[in-house]
Amino acid sequence: MSFNPYVTQISGHTLQVMQASDSNISDLLKLEEKVYSGRTPWSSFSFASELRKWHNSVYLVIYEGSQLVGFVGGRFIPCEGHITNIAVDPAYQNQGIGTYLMKLMIDMARRNGANQVTLEVRVDNEKAQMLYRNLGFVDGFVRVGYYREDHVDGLEMILYLKGKKK
Ligand SMILES: CC(C)(COP(=O)(O)OP(=O)(O)OC[C@H]1O[C@@H](n2cnc3c(N)ncnc32)[C@H](O)[C@@H]1OP(=O)(O)O)[C@@H](O)C(=O)NCCC(=O)NCCS
Repeated sequence: MSFNPYVTQISGHTLQVMQASDSNISDLLKLEEKVYSGRTPWSSFSFASELRKWHNSVYLVIYEGSQLVGFVGGRFIPCEGHITNIAVDPAYQNQGIGTYLMKLMIDMARRNGANQVTLEVRVDNEKAQMLYRNLGFVDGFVRVGYYREDHVDGLEMILYLKGKKK
């Protein structure tokens, strides 16, 4: 799937929005370490493998100059978009960037003919859940012990799309 890069302003920042490539992987790993207290739930291999699934997945990155500010990944199959990963640098959080990234993916899902967008979130990640609920996501199944590293349950969240764009 392709995505044309562009520049936008969010909360006073001039940001470049573009599709991720292998050259962004080291920045993606550094950002992951920042948001997950040194851990990298997604390895370099996972990012590289996801970036190669270009026919049905998209990874978007947002930069301010040379600084990676945030990223979001999604997979698109007929009738469904699935958000695989999202993170915003702590120094840029609470400024609307996470919401902006989610809206980009929701819009891509609509354009791809999806009826719904799904994602998986840790049951203890209340901040992310709040963001998703504000966008209209509702709770789905709880998957017991979904997160293998510490056995925390995963909550599926679903956004039912209406008024698909033509
Ligand atoms: C979850 C995450 C991506 C959210 O990113 P973010 O950029 O902080 O998200 P936003 O700024 O759009 O929204 C966060 C809050 O800031 C508020 N906000 C949005 N724009 C704002 C602004 N200009 N000024 C002040 N607050 C603002 C939003 O209303 C929202 O508040 P709420 O939680 O009460 O609804 C980020 O916290 C993160 O990277 N967390 C670690 C990784 C993670 O947990 N990923 C999710 C895995 S499922």
